[in-house]
Amino acid sequence: MRFNINGTAVEVEADIRTSLLDLMRNYLGFTGTKKGCDQGACGACTVLVDGERINSCLALAVQYQGRNITTVEGLAANGNLHPLQKAFIEHDGFQCGYCTPGQLCSAVGMAGEIERNIPSVVTADLSSDSIAVDDTEIRERMSGNLCRCGAYNGIVEAISEALVQQTAVQT
Ligand code: FES
Ligand code: FES
Repeated sequence: MRFNINGTAVEVEADIRTSLLDLMRNYLGFTGTKKGCDQGACGACTVLVDGERINSCLALAVQYQGRNITTVEGLAANGNLHPLQKAFIEHDGFQCGYCTPGQLCSAVGMAGEIERNIPSVVTADLSSDSIAVDDTEIRERMSGNLCRCGAYNGIVEAISEALVQQTAVQT
C-alpha cells in the first residue's frame, strides 16, 4: 500500500484487513495517534485525511491509499508548534495527554469545517450565513473526542483562542 503521510510518501506491505490506526502505529511507527476504544467511540485515533477528520480505528488502511494523511506528528512545521498545540499548553488542555493527539487533529479538522461553513448537526443555525463559534458550538463539534481526565475546560479555551487567532489572520 502507498500513502502520503505528513508530507512524505510511504510504501508498506501489510495485511489487507489492517486498520489505518494499526498501520500507522504498528507498521509505520506513528505512535502519536492513540488507540482508546478501537470501536469509534472515543476519538483518540483521530487523524486528518485530505484535511477531514476521521476515526482511524474504523478505517481500513487499504481504502486510503494515495490520500494525504496527517497525524499529530505532522502538525508542527519547521520546528514550530501548531498554534493549537501552543494554545493547549497555555490553557492546560490536557492532563495525562492520551486523548491529546486526537483532540488536536480533530480541532484542526473542525477549524476547516467552520472555514468551509459546514454546520454542526445539533447547534446549527441554518438561517445564518456564518457560524458563531462559541463554547457551546466548540463542545458540540468536539463531542466525538472524549477526555477521561476531564480537561474539557482547558481544551475548549485552547480551541477557542486558536480559532479567534485563525479568524484574525484571515480578516
Ligand atoms: Fe478510534 Fe476510540 S480508538 S474512536
Ligand atoms: Fe488524559 Fe484527556 S488528558 S484523557
